[in-house]
Amino acid sequence: MTPEEFRTAGYALIDWIAEHRSTVDQRPVRSEVAPGAVAGALPSAPPAGTDSFGHVMEDLRSIVVPGMFEMQHPMHFGWFPANAELSSILGDLASSGLSSVGISWESAPALTEVEEVVCDWMRQLVGLSEDWVGTITDTASTGCLTAMLVARERASGLSQNGGGLQGVKSPLVVYSTTQAHSSVAKAALLAGYGWDNIVMVDTDPETFAMDAGHLAKCMDADLSAGKTPAVVVAAVGTTGTTAIDPVGAVVEVAAVRGVWVHVDAAMAGSAMLVPECRHLWEGVEGADSISWNPHKWMGTILDCSLLYVRDETQLQSVMSTNPSYLRSTADGTVTQYRDWGIPLGRRFRALKLWFHLRLDGVESIRTRIRRDLANARWFAEQVAATPGWAVLAPVLLQTVCVSHTPVVDGTALQGRDLDAHTLRWAKAINDSGLAFVSPSMLDGQWMVRVSVGVLGTEREHLVRLWQQMQRVILPTVS
Ligand SMILES: Cc1ncc(COP(=O)(O)O)c(C=O)c1O
Repeated sequence: MTPEEFRTAGYALIDWIAEHRSTVDQRPVRSEVAPGAVAGALPSAPPAGTDSFGHVMEDLRSIVVPGMFEMQHPMHFGWFPANAELSSILGDLASSGLSSVGISWESAPALTEVEEVVCDWMRQLVGLSEDWVGTITDTASTGCLTAMLVARERASGLSQNGGGLQGVKSPLVVYSTTQAHSSVAKAALLAGYGWDNIVMVDTDPETFAMDAGHLAKCMDADLSAGKTPAVVVAAVGTTGTTAIDPVGAVVEVAAVRGVWVHVDAAMAGSAMLVPECRHLWEGVEGADSISWNPHKWMGTILDCSLLYVRDETQLQSVMSTNPSYLRSTADGTVTQYRDWGIPLGRRFRALKLWFHLRLDGVESIRTRIRRDLANARWFAEQVAATPGWAVLAPVLLQTVCVSHTPVVDGTALQGRDLDAHTLRWAKAINDSGLAFVSPSMLDGQWMVRVSVGVLGTEREHLVRLWQQMQRVILPTVS
């Protein structure tokens, strides 16, 4: 493709994207395609020759779009928001256009230095002290894995330089809760700790937050048993209920025992852009690492996850590589992000944050986050005030955990029957195409998460969802 052909096709593609975004609410939230339908509509053999841009766009429209879940739909209340501000999409496009590959500072000086500056802007915007330095990774899962690896090496006295974990006599232990995201246990397993050394600390039955007293007991019991507590992951905004582990208390318990604290604020990091939410992670300054995702609520297009550490030399001691072909005269005076994480080559991800912050401005992002917080509170109030309905967890951010309990023949449904009812009404909403919610388990029972926070979601959309929820349970209520 020549630059001239690119220009023509590129203008057409931008027009198409703008149209797609401005009509998102005219399509069903959830894709209606059957499994295999998209693949079945594509030729099984690779293209032998070339095709026209027009034909590719036709297939994009007729095959790909119907197979897409509309994440940016204002009636999407599932999982967590994965907002993609158009300003950040421009930054992503600029990154692709520059086609840079960050394998060393020398390979793309601006890639490294814009990332340094933008990570520091983000640090300031969420109120972290100058002690923190950041980098951009693809996901919070990678951030957590990176933290687990560094914690492993710290606790084992850099075992990787000798026999690795296989030479460590005292098992290294990870602490988390059942409410933590699945990426935490996955990271622990990938980092070699093993299931037997993942301890699930008790949570408060009302708030679902980690019990720091129990954490201390677990660590002391492990120490007595000859094990080495290595890392605790405190969730600031769990996936199920957005529960907030008491970071300050966790840090206190961990600090005296020399344990690494990783704060997983994948979702709630965005809330820290508004000062009135920052009490939720009070004590965070005592942690060792923090990850959070601008590619969730904040609205910088995926993939854009921030990983902050207080001591980057610990990252470097585990991640550093220095092959001869990557050396340059700038070594020792510049940041080499390849020494801060797992991949060598990196994209120019900082551009999407740079564009987003500059074109939209942080105040508009704050206004939107405050809107979502207020909308979630309003929604929870409606649910809590209606007989038969309940809000199951504190609404600290934008997620409302809901149940509906019908009374059948004078008896409130419970157990499996209640689960079947919950899954039925959630399915009815999702099948309608009008809205999407995520059923999820809490304390062994199904409930429905209503996750507020898509860019276009206003109060009217929550009103519509609430009406729909009450409508779909009607046939089952006696
Ligand atoms: C609390 C929490 N941590 C981690 C993750 C994983 O995020 P990522 O998809 O960036 O790996 C999620 C995803 O929703 C999450 O909610």
